[in-house]
Amino acid sequence: MSAGHIPVLLQETLGLLSPSPGEVFLDGTVGAGGHAEEIARRIGPEGILVCADGDPEMLARAAERLRGFPFVRTVHADFSELARLRGAAGGRPFDGMLLDLGLSSLQLDDPARGFSFREDGPLDMRRDPGAPVSAARELLRRANEKELADIFYRFGEERFSRRIARAIVERRRKEPIERTLQLAELVKRAIPRKAWPRDIHPATRVFQALRIAVNRELESLSVFLEEFARHLAPRGRAAVIGFHSLEDRLVKTAFRAQSAGKDAVLEILTRKPVVPGPEEKERNPRARSAKLRAARRRGQEESPCEG
Ligand SMILES: C[S@@+](CC[C@H](N)C(=O)[O-])C[C@H]1O[C@@H](n2cnc3c(N)ncnc32)[C@H](O)[C@@H]1O
Repeated sequence: MSAGHIPVLLQETLGLLSPSPGEVFLDGTVGAGGHAEEIARRIGPEGILVCADGDPEMLARAAERLRGFPFVRTVHADFSELARLRGAAGGRPFDGMLLDLGLSSLQLDDPARGFSFREDGPLDMRRDPGAPVSAARELLRRANEKELADIFYRFGEERFSRRIARAIVERRRKEPIERTLQLAELVKRAIPRKAWPRDIHPATRVFQALRIAVNRELESLSVFLEEFARHLAPRGRAAVIGFHSLEDRLVKTAFRAQSAGKDAVLEILTRKPVVPGPEEKERNPRARSAKLRAARRRGQEESPCEG
């Protein structure tokens, strides 16, 4: 397991969310608590910080890190469960909301969780190891060739999705595919050597796709994006950090739709996504693909339809 998780685009996120004393905040993806700790420092002791995570192990870790801030409330929840999360803030609307999508280094690098194509482990990939949803190995066993190809193409933008799906179906006739390295090797062999990506492992996209499918990551994000503005206070800010184009597209589209026309409830704070500078990319390779977008709920005087 790696030593820790470095929060991505920390200063940029704080600049856009501008947490101030006494405000009510939601960190919907608390993870190791890096962003949350800085938010807590700025809103306490009169503020409220609701911290959610779908992974109980990460939530426990964050609770430990944040135990010096008694106004932090940790909730084991999906970030799309906004009504419940608002309930944890006593029903008050949020002055700020943060989603830092995907998984933390602590989860990704733990072979036992099954996300890593570099070390051997069971092909699990569930965000919540106790959840009654199917793990990646069941998906690989049950889905037909077309379904598998669609998952790899849609969620991984993998060019060789069909070849990989075929290789999986052929292999599983002979033996079950249950280990991460077994899948990583199989994917590597299904992609022609000259087409292997230069800067990432050839199985990266397939692993990303399976993870997204197993945890229904885009569904949660879509529900959040549909509902979050209703749970923001007037002038409340929301920031989302995405790590691949599918997430970023959903965020961009939702922000645009809700900031257009006479019924607009949002104003966009980032005309273009904020990305890490060369120094951050150097220091934290996982930040390389990060894109941060933020929006603010319009004040009551600006949105006559509210109210
Ligand atoms: C990239 S990490 C967050 C890191 C955190 N900002 C920090 O600085 O330590 C993302 C976290 O969000 C959680 N997560 C991802 N999708 C989620 C969802 N739909 N609902 C709740 N938690 C989710 C993951 O379990 C993970 O712990």
